[in-house]
Formats: sequence, C-alpha cells, structure tokens
Amino acid sequence: MALHGMLLQQKLLLGALILAATAASQPHSGCNNTCGNLTIPYPFGTSEGCYLDPSFLITCNYLSGIPTPFLGDKTSNIPVLDISLLDGELRVSSFVARDCYNESGLPVNRLYTSFELMQYFYFSYTRNKFTVVGCDTYAFIKGSGERNYTTGCTAYCDRIDSVVNGSCSGLGCCQTSIAEGIWDYTLSVSSYNNYSEVRSFNPCGFVFLVEEEAYNFSSLDLQQLQNKKEVPMVLDWAVGNETCEYAKGNMTSYACKAEYSECYNSTNGAGYRCNCTKGFQGNPYLYDGCTDIDECKNPKSCNNETQICSNFPGDFKCSCREGYEDDGRGTSCLAKLNQSKVITFALGISISLLALVVAGSWISWALKRRKLLKLKEKFFKQNGGLMLQQRLPSHRGSVETNKIFSAEELKKATNNYDKSIVLGQGCYGTVYKGVLPDNKVVAIKKSKISDQSQIEQFINEVIVLTQINHRNVVKLLGCCLETEVPLLVYEFITNGTLSDHIHNESLSSLLSWEKRLKIAAEIAGALAYLHSSTSMPIIHRDVKTTNILLDDNYMAKVSDFGASKLVPLDQTQLTTLVQGTFGYLDPEYFHTSQLTEKSDVYSFGVVVAELLTGKEALSFNRPESDRNLAMYFVSAIKEDRLLQILEDHIVKEGNIEELKEVANLAKRCLRVRGEDRPSMKEVAMELEGLTIMGKHPWGKADLHMEETEYLLNNGPSHSFSIDVGIGCSSTANTPIGYDSMMNQVLKPVDDGR
Ligand SMILES: *[C@@H]1O[C@H](CO)[C@@H](O)[C@H](O)[C@H]1NC(C)=O
Repeated sequence: MALHGMLLQQKLLLGALILAATAASQPHSGCNNTCGNLTIPYPFGTSEGCYLDPSFLITCNYLSGIPTPFLGDKTSNIPVLDISLLDGELRVSSFVARDCYNESGLPVNRLYTSFELMQYFYFSYTRNKFTVVGCDTYAFIKGSGERNYTTGCTAYCDRIDSVVNGSCSGLGCCQTSIAEGIWDYTLSVSSYNNYSEVRSFNPCGFVFLVEEEAYNFSSLDLQQLQNKKEVPMVLDWAVGNETCEYAKGNMTSYACKAEYSECYNSTNGAGYRCNCTKGFQGNPYLYDGCTDIDECKNPKSCNNETQICSNFPGDFKCSCREGYEDDGRGTSCLAKLNQSKVITFALGISISLLALVVAGSWISWALKRRKLLKLKEKFFKQNGGLMLQQRLPSHRGSVETNKIFSAEELKKATNNYDKSIVLGQGCYGTVYKGVLPDNKVVAIKKSKISDQSQIEQFINEVIVLTQINHRNVVKLLGCCLETEVPLLVYEFITNGTLSDHIHNESLSSLLSWEKRLKIAAEIAGALAYLHSSTSMPIIHRDVKTTNILLDDNYMAKVSDFGASKLVPLDQTQLTTLVQGTFGYLDPEYFHTSQLTEKSDVYSFGVVVAELLTGKEALSFNRPESDRNLAMYFVSAIKEDRLLQILEDHIVKEGNIEELKEVANLAKRCLRVRGEDRPSMKEVAMELEGLTIMGKHPWGKADLHMEETEYLLNNGPSHSFSIDVGIGCSSTANTPIGYDSMMNQVLKPVDDGR
C-alpha cells in the first residue's frame, strides 16, 4: 500500500511538470533517440527537451552492461519492448503473479503483483487478456483509472490430458477481457485445495495480464510458468487528457505539429494522438515530420505495363502510357495501341493482298496479252502475212486502198461471228455480214483453210483483188491475218448472188431480160478488164453465177478470186492444177491443164446459158445427156429448139432476135477449143452493143457441136457428180500433182505454155 501511495504521489508531481513543460514542444538536436535495439521516436525521449512531456520519458538503464529502456525515470521497472507511433501503442513487460504449494500443502511462493502507469497511459483492453493458468486456481484483477473495476477467473482440471493446448476456456487456463480506461491494476491468485489433487503436474497457479497474441497456452505451462517472470503487454498512450478539438484551440500545446498531420481522439481513455494525413508518412509530432509518400515506388500503385505513375504531395496519379487509353471509368488503361496495331496489321495484310491480287492479275493479263500477241503473230505468219507483206510493196499503187484489220475490230463488227448474220457458207468458208465502226456494212469472209497450202490461195485472192479497181468487181477493203483463219473484208453487196436470182422462182420472175442482158454485159466487161486492163492479166478461173453478186440496182459484181491467177504478160497460158467448178469448167483446160483466158470465156458462156434458160449449170434432175447445161444448151441450138429451153418470161418480153444473138454468143463461148472462143473483150463489146443499141453485131451462129460433144463425152462425168454432190465447187481435190502444183500457183511458171 505504501508503494501504491508513493506512486500516486509521483504521478501528481509529474502532472505538474507536464503543465510546466508544454512550451518545449519540439525535441532539441542533441537527443539520443535509441536505447539498445529500440528506436525512441518523439514524443518519447530519453532526456529533458527530447520528449513532449515527462510521461513520454524513456530511461535507458544499463543493466549488467546491456542498455535497456524503461518507461519513466530511473526508478521505473517497466521495460519497454516496442514503441509504435502509428497505433499509439507501447509494448512493455508485465510480471507474472503466482501462488505455489509444496507436498505438504503449504504455500511456498506466493507473489502478487500490481502495476501502475503514468498519466494518460492505459492498459490496452483490446490487445491484452487477463489470464489465469492452473488446475486448482482462481484469481482476481482489481483495476482502477477512469473507473474502478474488478473481475476474476477460475482455472480447473483433474488430469493433465484433459487440458487443451491453445484453449483458455477454464480447463487449466482461463482468460477474460479487462475494462477500458484502466491505468492501475493489482493481481491476486489463490487455490481451492492447495493443489493436493494436481500437484504432480501443477503445483502452482499463475496470473498475468498479457498481449493476447503473444501468449498461447500449453499444458506444459502448468509447470513451466514457474520459471517465467515476465510476459509482454500492450499500453495505449495518448497526449494529454484533452480532445482534439480542445487541443487545437490551444495552438502552443497542440502536439500534431507536422504540416500534413491530423488529430484523432484516443479510444482508450482521455487524450488524443496524431497521424500523418493520407499520402504522407513520418512523425506527425515533428515540424516537417510528415513527408510525402512516393507511391510510385510501390509497383502496385499503377499497372506499370499500361500506366505511368505520377506522384503528387499526398497523392499520385496513374495516367495511360502512350498508345493506351482510359477505359472510361478511370480504373485501367486499354491497349489503344494494340487495337490500332491490329487495325494497322489487318490493313497492311489487306493492302498486301490487294497488291498481290492486282500484281497477279496484271501479270496474268500481261502474260495472256503476250500469249495473244504471240498467237496473233503466229497466225499472221501462218496466214501468209509475211508473204503478203513481201508481195504488197510491189503493187504499192493499190495497197493504199486496202487495210489490215485487227481481229478485235472484226470481232466487234460481226458481233463475235454471230450465226444469225451469216450471209453464205460453202467449202471456201463462211461469209458474215459486219458493220464497221464507221457504219460501213461489209462482208467478212472467214476462210476455211484446213492446211497450210491453202494459205497461198488466200493470199492469192488478196493480191489479185488489190490489183483490181472495177465497178463490176467486188471491192476488197482489207484483211485480217491475226486470227487462226484469215479474214477478208469486202464491200457488202446487198442483193445476193446471181444464182439466187436465176433459180429462185419469185426472184427469177423479177429478173427481166433487160436486166439479164445488162448483167451479162457487166460480167463480160469485168472479165475483159481482168484479162486485159490490169497491169498483169488475171484469170478468174471460177466464173459462175454463185460468184456473181448483185446490188440493189442489179449491178453485177464479180467475186471470189480465190482461184484466180495472175498471168505474167509474156505468157498467154499457164499449166496449173485444174481448178474450177463442174458445169462451168472449161473442158479443154480440164483435159490439158493448160489455163488460158479462154477458160473464163467458157465459164462465162455457161453463165449466159444459165441467164437465158434459167436452168442450173449442172443438174441431176435432167436426163443424163442433158445434165450439163453447156452441152444441153449447145445441142438445143443445134437442134433449133432454143426457144423451148429459154426461160418462159424472157421469151415473152424479149426481142427474139436479141435472144438468139446472145444465145449464139454463148454458144461461141462454149466452143470446145479455146482458140475458137471469142475473147472476153469481144464478148463484152458485143453485149455492151446489144444493151445500148439493141442490135447484134454478129449475124450468124457458128456451131461446133462435134468437138464439144466429143470432149464432153470423154470427160470424167462420174467424178463430176461426186464433187457437185458434196456442194463444193473446186476440183482441186484431184490428187495428181497437187502439192507441187500448189507451190507454183502464184509464181510465173516457166515451163507453162
Ligand atoms: C501441448 O503441447 C506440448 C508441446 O508444445 C505437448 O508436449 C503437450 O503434450 C501438449 N498437451 C496436450 C494436452 O495436447
């Protein structure tokens, strides 16, 4: 009790000292703020001028050479273990009270303890537990401070194995809380039966106030706590006994000196404590004690991958790195860069693909074009383009009127060779009607060339036609050699072939004698022109009604020069492959292969006979002897039955004399021997005379029937029928000397004559 009274007195004295020392609010520079391993922060201090007030005095005692801090002055026996500014806690050692008995049941070691704190320090009621250990034990704690407080606990057990380690619920160990606001306590401990029943394993009872987390009950403690004098305990400390509001009013004594500090009231008893405000750390009781926390040093503050951390006094900011953007809620950054990278990547891929496709299609187009050009070149060569090029310069005068058309042009002109615009078809090829870009209507002949040798025939026609400029000869406008088969472009003759007009019943009635005579004269004129007027005589070789075209005015146009021959001026006849159309073919030429202009005269005679009679040049509908019109016609004249075989309507409308004269002229043309036939020029003049003057220059018929019959009867009539039967007009399929002869077609033939 004396001790207690002395302590109380000391406390009052300290309170007076505190009031006096309120001005010394900051520690001076020479303060030693360590003791042993303990750091002593202000407001605690080890000497005057180093602590806030004397209740914060820590005395460093050198017990047996080891510096040991004690709470209070030199007389203190409260060892300090730890000081925490943040929690306002002070960890100290507290004594264990005990009550031990010997085998006789007599008390041998009875130790009660009391503990009294300086002003404004309290036993933590949240961290400490009043603890009783023993198996025949009861104990009390009598506390005082802001209130008086007493509580007790009983620990009991009969066997050591009945206690539970870590459990203080009464079996060998009992724990209970203490009240708040206590700065003074006394512990007392007693036994029910002097440990007579449990002495073998528990001769003592123990009691102490201990930091709950620091003490874990074990059955071993029932004996071993005899050796333990001290346990840790937590005190709550505070500044003064005022509230924050009050302390702030008295600026000189207000302890929260730091700029960024705040005050909070103690939760255990009176007084207040200080803390650095959020974002600051350090000692709030010192000027400039609270320093900014550099949150950016903590890698968890921001997402380093996507954010940049910026530190501010008391705060920090996470801003998005370049290429990232706020998610809209301000909590994280989204990879803007990644998205745009994806877009860029996708775009890049797309552009590359597009470029590839474009390049690919360009290359493919270029290759195709190259292939096409090569093909065109190949066709050009194959189609005799080179031959034509070689030949044309020698006939420069007429070349300029001709044109080489492109395949594309003609494809367009014929609407891609539309079948509906086919004008005619035969063994020579197909003729299409075409319209050129300048709206000029043309006939386009797509030659049917199956072998290379026929190219020469084609080129021949081109060459021949370029030599000719006559109103009664179909005009060649140009050609195209780029296609697989060569194409010839002619002026378009609107009214069809003479053959159609003669043999079609309705057309035939419209073809008056006057027209027929005029047509005959025009054909004769054209042939005469071919034979004599051009620079090099041309033998048509295939004069027949299907090769005579008529325009709307019934003007005759001689066409199809595929078989024609240029005859060098110094030659009057050529030895060639027999070519022509049966029914029109000069029998002399057929037998001798000697081609002269007179062969055309013979064929013309057949055409005139056709014009007069309206009968086909060769017809299997007639009796065998009459199949060949030439023979039939000549024999009719001989038998004086001309009028019977003439076309009915021309007999009615025509001048009989005139008809007879023309018939006689035809008969002369049909003479077996070429020499006996009139020249084309003579024929032309005579017919012209008839058309103009309506009178005949030659008065008598001159028949040489015998020869005609002889030659015709010895002709290979069966081969006629074969050729005509298949509708092709050329005898060129006669096998004899075919190839060798063909090679010579366009060349002046020295061995001719
Ligand atoms: C309690 O723990 C100690 C070791 O810490 C052990 O020796 C003892 O047997 C335990 N007692 C009980 C009752 O489990």
